[in-house]
Amino acid sequence: MGYRVAVVGATGAVGRELLRILAERNFPADEVVALASPRSVGREVSFGDDKVLKVQNLETFDFKGWDIALFSPGGAVSAKYAPKAAAAGCVVIDNTSHFRMEPGIPLVVPEVNASALKKASRGIIANPNCSTAQMVVALKPLHDLFNIRRVVVSTYQAVSGAGKDGMDELFAQTKGTFVNDPPTVAQFTKQIAFNVIPHIDRFLEDGSTKEEWKMAVETRKILDPDIQVLATCVRVPVFIGHSEAISIECEKPVDLKKAREALRKAPGVILRDEREDGGYVTPIECVGEDATYVSRLRIDPSVENGLAFWCVSDNLRKGAALNAVQIAESIVQQGLLKDGQLFRRNEIPDEDEAV
Ligand code: A2P
Repeated sequence: MGYRVAVVGATGAVGRELLRILAERNFPADEVVALASPRSVGREVSFGDDKVLKVQNLETFDFKGWDIALFSPGGAVSAKYAPKAAAAGCVVIDNTSHFRMEPGIPLVVPEVNASALKKASRGIIANPNCSTAQMVVALKPLHDLFNIRRVVVSTYQAVSGAGKDGMDELFAQTKGTFVNDPPTVAQFTKQIAFNVIPHIDRFLEDGSTKEEWKMAVETRKILDPDIQVLATCVRVPVFIGHSEAISIECEKPVDLKKAREALRKAPGVILRDEREDGGYVTPIECVGEDATYVSRLRIDPSVENGLAFWCVSDNLRKGAALNAVQIAESIVQQGLLKDGQLFRRNEIPDEDEAV
């Protein structure tokens, strides 16, 4: 028997990718429905190479009888509709930041903490921030070996992380430069074409941004509550593919050969590190790929037990849609869709527990 699956935000950058990946990976779905705002009702979206779905209205959709809903419509919309879907007995995998840090809602990257899915008690599972997802996939094998204490990361984040409108803005500004049109700035705080912007999401009181805060708290929730993270998140004029320069400080002495072996074997990671011209992966090469690529691995001589590396992944796939579909696959594989196991309504979640 297959499942009935809803994709919420199906007309958006991540929603379209969700539909593509469900089809690509032959997710065991008997029926798939595409949902978006009333503006898009009746529009057609592709599902796989040969199917087309007519978009339905999220506002009036009844989730009763649906097994899994993959949400990517923005935080405010998820906040309103994800609990409604869960109340109707449909397991929600939410791609927005809205529920990520709430107790009783696991935050999951299957290669790292698939077992946390069992702890869901509200029928909602959260998908991490795109930059966190690829980083923890690369950190996990190194943490298992050397016990990471501190991470310093600078990101180079593609405009698709800001949705379809962000991609349109980079395209329009780039084109406009060649025909002498003044740039229109709407999605970002400054011109993004031919520029970089050290600011993603809103500012917090301590001078960091919410995107940087997310990388720290989400890494702790997924990987280890004792890891300290300092992030600087930067938007760059790349359409798809986030890059990260990561430095780690570990408790145990680091060994480059062991680190390489562990990264080579780690699920979801491809090590491409040839220490020669072009022997590393850049964002344009990871588009449409599932892996998190690690390159430029080297000892950091400026601290004790330090390692540094470069990490690249397709932010719409591992950073969003692929990870969400992998969560759905893991729920099915672990048999968690049976008997309302993810809806233990009377259980009071343990706030201190890293789920
Ligand atoms: P719509 O196209 O109807 O606005 P992106 O992150 O690429 O901008 O995509 C956002 C997705 O979320 C789109 O599919 C968008 O649908 C959907 N969305 C936005 N607002 C709502 C809403 N109020 N109800 C349902 N879906 C929404």
